[in-house]
Amino acid sequence: MKIISNPLELKEYLKDKRETDGFQVKQSVGFVPTMGALHEGHISLIREARKNNDIVVVSIFVNPTQFLKGEDLDKYPKKYDADKKICEIGGVDILFFPEAKDMYGNDEVSILAPIVRGYVLEGTSRPGHFNGVLTVVMKLLNIVEPTRAYFGKKDAQQLNLISLMVKHFFMSVEIVAVDTVRESDGLALSSRNVYLSKEERQEALKISSSLQLGAKMLTQNVVEVEEILKKMREILSPLEVSYVEILNRDFEIIKKVEIGNSIILVEARVGTTRLLDNIWL
Ligand code: PAJ
Repeated sequence: MKIISNPLELKEYLKDKRETDGFQVKQSVGFVPTMGALHEGHISLIREARKNNDIVVVSIFVNPTQFLKGEDLDKYPKKYDADKKICEIGGVDILFFPEAKDMYGNDEVSILAPIVRGYVLEGTSRPGHFNGVLTVVMKLLNIVEPTRAYFGKKDAQQLNLISLMVKHFFMSVEIVAVDTVRESDGLALSSRNVYLSKEERQEALKISSSLQLGAKMLTQNVVEVEEILKKMREILSPLEVSYVEILNRDFEIIKKVEIGNSIILVEARVGTTRLLDNIWL
């Protein structure tokens, strides 16, 4: 596995690799952007990328511009040696591991999240967060120029906004959505789960339980959004819930669940840790 930290070096290396490894057909590149502290969720993205592409690139970059003041940028978990091993075992060809100075200069052009879809849900609790996400993802996609880029459904709003950016800017990458990986008790895997104490981890299960209840109500033919949300709030209590919403997959408000086109999304604070989860209906 090749490890590169300089963006232009990676661009050059990939250009050569695509051309020299290929015969007439260009080699496909699968790309998995991450912030490190890799877990089974990230691994399933890497596995998907490995299955369907000739060259697999993973990036590890804790992107400062997507953290708001007072958030966990400085204490975000860092596990470089373990991450490197996971990538090696996962058959990753290139690990891109830049520093902030390699990625950002002063007084830069940046990408702005759309003013409606970028400022609801997580965008309300973290205003400006998605500007940072979209800007870094634009940079990463331009550096790697992948055929396909892999993102988790776990961060549904992020995935939606990245898909919109790719569409609105006529970018030629294919965005692949990968299912959420969970612990056996239902807790969605997240790099931030390490912040949870034993008791908090138990409390956190209310999030996935509430989503399971929502999905179950649907199987009992309850489709009224308000009715489902009311029951979900009962399960989530007394957690501090930032939002619990049922939207269609374009992130628009709906009154009745549209099966095959809806998502239930929850963000709740457990102790000081913000946890996100969702279920696609
Ligand atoms: P990070 O939180 O490291 O997540 C990297 C990718 O892994 C994202 O696409 C995320 O949705 C996916 N992921 C996280 N937990 C998952 C789980 N339990 N199951 C499946 N996929 C999961 O998301 C980011 O980094 C950053 O915002 C980034 C896109 C890299 C831009 O900085």
